[in-house]
Amino acid sequence: MKQIAIDGPAGAGKSTIAKQLSKDLGYVYIDTGAMYRTIALYCLKKEADLDDEELISALCSEAEIDIRYLDGVQHMFLGEEDVSEAIRTEQVSQAASAVSKYPKVRTRLVEMQRELAKQYDVVMDGRDIGTHVLPDASLKIYLTASVDVRAERRYKEYLAKGLPCDLKEMKKDIAERDHNDMTREHSPLRKAEDAIEVDTSNMSIPEVVSTIRELIK
Ligand code: DC
Repeated sequence: MKQIAIDGPAGAGKSTIAKQLSKDLGYVYIDTGAMYRTIALYCLKKEADLDDEELISALCSEAEIDIRYLDGVQHMFLGEEDVSEAIRTEQVSQAASAVSKYPKVRTRLVEMQRELAKQYDVVMDGRDIGTHVLPDASLKIYLTASVDVRAERRYKEYLAKGLPCDLKEMKKDIAERDHNDMTREHSPLRKAEDAIEVDTSNMSIPEVVSTIRELIK
């Protein structure tokens, strides 16, 4: 099976690029952040203390999380509830970053991710795909952009969806999430040694896609 790994901080454009790329190549797109978000949503629904590692680990093992493809689009389920939209709030973003530091949470989700990569050619995006989940991926991309650019992109995304947002808040949240994701003990976000860094601050989506397609060749 073929594997393309795309890692990078929040808002670097991973999902947009990975989606487009998977479509072009006929691979399955796997958004691993959505999996951490789903666990986070479950913990929030249970009103759990996110600092309680034992409790979060227990909730993670009992949560009935499922990943399904409807018309080729990834949907996340908690039991029979499609939570694909509900996991896109800022509150869930922060909670996902918080619960993702626990090894039990990571182990369960990494197992699911590797299982999927055994069955399909994949473009997988996340924080630890090149360094940990798929160390033998044929191409590893580390996608970055400045905090300002990333916050602005998120802001526009939210505006377009009619969701409440505040640019300054978003910038603060992104910086905080970067810090959490890069400094945690288990599988922190970092560029794999054999990953190619692409800084998208001054690039359009088609430019990034074509740069990566050249690298695939
Ligand atoms: O990519 P995202 O913003 O949807 O990810 C949400 C959070 O999940 C992110 O802040 C850290 C965590 N995450 C992770 O630890 N490992 C991954 N492979 C993907 C996401």
